[in-house]
Amino acid sequence: MTKLWGGRFTQATDAFMESFSASIHYDARLFRQDIQGSMVHCRMLARQGIIAGDEADLILDGLVRVRAEIEQGELPFRDDLEDIHMHVESRLAELIGPVAGKLHTARSRNDQVATDLRLWLREECDAIRDAVRTLQSVLVDLAEVHVETIMPGFTHLQNAQPVTLGHHLMAYFEMLDRDRQRFSELRKRINQLPLGSAALAGTPYPIDREWVAKELGFEGVCRNSLDAVSDRDFVIETAAAAALVMTHLSRFSEELILWSSPNFGFIELSDAFATGSSIMPQKKNPDAPELVRGKSGRVTGHLMGLLTLMKGLPLAYNRDMQEDKEAIFDIVDTVRGCLKVFTGMLVEIRVYPEVMLAAAKVGYTTATDLADYLVRLGIPFRQAHEISGRLVRVCVNTGRSLEQLTLAEMQAVDGRIGSEVMAVLTVTASVNARKVVGGTAFTTVRTAIESARARLS
Ligand code: ARG
Repeated sequence: MTKLWGGRFTQATDAFMESFSASIHYDARLFRQDIQGSMVHCRMLARQGIIAGDEADLILDGLVRVRAEIEQGELPFRDDLEDIHMHVESRLAELIGPVAGKLHTARSRNDQVATDLRLWLREECDAIRDAVRTLQSVLVDLAEVHVETIMPGFTHLQNAQPVTLGHHLMAYFEMLDRDRQRFSELRKRINQLPLGSAALAGTPYPIDREWVAKELGFEGVCRNSLDAVSDRDFVIETAAAAALVMTHLSRFSEELILWSSPNFGFIELSDAFATGSSIMPQKKNPDAPELVRGKSGRVTGHLMGLLTLMKGLPLAYNRDMQEDKEAIFDIVDTVRGCLKVFTGMLVEIRVYPEVMLAAAKVGYTTATDLADYLVRLGIPFRQAHEISGRLVRVCVNTGRSLEQLTLAEMQAVDGRIGSEVMAVLTVTASVNARKVVGGTAFTTVRTAIESARARLS
C-alpha cells in the first residue's frame, strides 16, 4: 500500500514506527470537523474556479458518504493511514476515484489539523461554559436555602468568625463565574481560521479565506501563516482555564470531604455519590469529591505537558504537536465529567444546620465582635484586641464560651464594658453586623444572590 505522501520514498515504513506515529485511534474524534472543513474548502475551490463545479459536487457527495460511514462505525481504522485526515481522503478516493485528489489543492494537513482542532475546541468550550452555568445555578439555589444557616468560617482551618453557608457557597459561585468568563474570552482567540496557511507559507492559489472563515463560523482569519500552523496557545489557554475550574472544584471537594466526615458532620452526601467500604460496614466514603480532587491533578499535569511540548519548537509545524490532542481531549472529558458529577452531587446534598450552628459557636468566634464593640466605646482597635484576648483567656481557663461569661467577670477585665455587650456576642449578631458589600449578613447575601441570578440569565 503506497502512502498518500509516498512519492519520494523507496522503503516501507518500519512496522513499529507505523503504529508509533499513528494518531487515528484518538484523532478520529475530529472526523466531523475534518469533513466540515473539507466541504467548505471544496466549495471555496469551486467558487474561485480552482476546481470545476461538477468535480466539487462529486467530492461533496463523497464526503457525505464518508461521514456516514464513520458515524456508522463502518470505516476501518488503519495505522498505515496515520490520522483522520488521511482516512477521510483515502476513503474518498475509493468512493469517487482520482478526482478526490483535487480536494487537497491549496491546503496542507498542517492548516487542516489546526482548523479541525479549533472547530472542535470552540464547541467544547461552549459545552464547558454551559456546564459551569448549570453548576452555578444549583449553587445559587442551595445558597438561597441557606442564607440563614450559620457555620464557622475558617482561616488556617481554625474557627475564625461565623459566616453563613449561603455566603460560603456564593464564594464558589464567584470563582465559577470567572471561570465562565475565561472560557468566553478565550473562545474568541480560538475562533480564528488557520486554513489557507497551507503547509507554512501560504498558497499560490487564488483562495478566499474570508469566505471560508464566514462559512465555518470563524470570527476572522489567522493573520500569519507560520503562526497559524504552528502555535497551540489556544489549546494551552483552554487547558489553563480548565485547570482553574478543576482547582476550584478541588478546593470545594476538599471541604465537602471534611464536612462529611463524622468529625464535622456538617453534611451528608447522597448514596448516589458515595460508596461503602468492602471491609468496614459502617463506612460511607465521599468518592465523588475525592475523584474530582484527584482528577484536578490530571488536568494540571496536562497543562504542564502542553507548555513543555511547545516550548522548544522552532517555527513552523513540527510533528511533536500531534501530542496536543490526547491531552486536550482528556482535559475536556475530565472537566465536563467533573462538572456533571459535582452538579448532581450538590442537588442531592444533605445539610445539617444545627451541627453547623453548634460548631460556629466553638472557638470564641465572636472575639472580633467583642473587640469591635470596644472600638465603638472609643477604645483604639489594637487595645480593644488586647482586652478581647484577655477575656478569651478567661474562657479558655474556665472552659466556657464568651457568651457564658457574666458581666461582672467581663468588667473585672475592663470596667468600660456595659451590659449591651451580651447582644454583640451571639453568632447571629456577628453575622448580621457584616452588612458591608461582599459581607456575610443575611440581607447582604440575599442581595448577592439576586445579583448572581441576574448575571446567570
Ligand atoms: N496528525 C497530525 C497532527 O496531529 C496532522 C498533521 C500532520 N502533518 C504533517 N506534516 N505530518 O499534527
